[in-house]
Amino acid sequence: MAEVRVEGLTKTYGTARALDAVTLAFPDGGFFGLLGPSGSGKTTLLRAIAGFVEPEAGRVLIGDAPVENVPVEAREIGMVFQSYALFPNMTVAQNVAFGLEVRKVPAAERARRVAEVLELVRLGPYGARKPHELSGGQRQRVAMARAIVTRPRVLLLDEPLSALDKALRVEMQIELKRIQREVGITTIFVTHDQEEALTLSDRIGILRDGRLVREGPPRAVYDDPRDAFTARFLGEANLFSGVLEPGGLRLGDGVLVAGARTATVAVRPENLRISLTEPPAPIRLRARLRQRIFAGAMGTCVLDWQGETLKAVGRDRDFADLPAEGEVWLSWDAADTIPLEG
Ligand SMILES: Nc1ncnc2c1ncn2[C@@H]1O[C@H](COP(=O)(O)OP(=O)(O)O)[C@@H](O)[C@H]1O
Ligand SMILES: [Mg+2]
Repeated sequence: MAEVRVEGLTKTYGTARALDAVTLAFPDGGFFGLLGPSGSGKTTLLRAIAGFVEPEAGRVLIGDAPVENVPVEAREIGMVFQSYALFPNMTVAQNVAFGLEVRKVPAAERARRVAEVLELVRLGPYGARKPHELSGGQRQRVAMARAIVTRPRVLLLDEPLSALDKALRVEMQIELKRIQREVGITTIFVTHDQEEALTLSDRIGILRDGRLVREGPPRAVYDDPRDAFTARFLGEANLFSGVLEPGGLRLGDGVLVAGARTATVAVRPENLRISLTEPPAPIRLRARLRQRIFAGAMGTCVLDWQGETLKAVGRDRDFADLPAEGEVWLSWDAADTIPLEG
């Protein structure tokens, strides 16, 4: 069952279509990652679900009930935004208790629930501190505690980790996922970091210019992106275009991508092989190795092919025998050819 659904949601600002007939279901108890370039409508979608934005067309349903007449505070939604303003003069416990006070929860129960949720976000001993006495990650966890202490039905997270540095962000991703699992709350998580979305989400949706271009489990979308935009937005993709023939796709240099059925195909960098001698693989072409980039365990090779830049990724030692630059063979398995429409 879907806890949240949006149907034909449309919102225009001046001439900008922030949301263009978006229809999408967010499964009950799931972690949904919403992705898209800057300005694609992610924040507007969250704000429409929360009730801060009134759509011109379409509707939002929470637990199967339309909510157009339900005000923000009655939608039972918890929110964490990138700039999660904590009250600076209140302690951690007071910050977390605030939403319960507003809802007139009695003091004894308030104290019990604050203690419980601080325990959940591993801030048990920090209740008496002020926000400025906490690290960035701890403040972020206070914001999470504050959002879930009222036991909302839905948690909306708008790039909550983007202000944190890389190491802390990865740590908080693990924490966030743990907390979401323990509470079992339906979560919609906005990020522009595709790796973050892939790591955390049960399902992802990709927005482009206010339109939903793709939705599904991360693996399925990654393996079958369907169009060039999604292929490039989610991970990296080498694109090959040519002319279709009965046997496959004939590329500009005469190479046949056997079995291909679309005029453009993609190959993921991790599926490209590079060799100095002609490989036995049926799909192979000549390219020029331009650069080898060492990045710890993994390496990247940048290649030129027919005026295009291609990338191959592998364990650095797989590339150890290659020269710094020069002519090489590129090959891949037919099963790794991704068909693209349009
Ligand atoms: N309050 C607003 N007033 C005018 N334009 C807005 C407003 N909010 C968003 N927009 C526009 O709507 C589009 C989508 O914005 P937004 O939802 O913030 O995108 P994202 O969160 O994906 O970066 C953008 O073109 C943005 O400029
Ligand atoms: Mg945004």
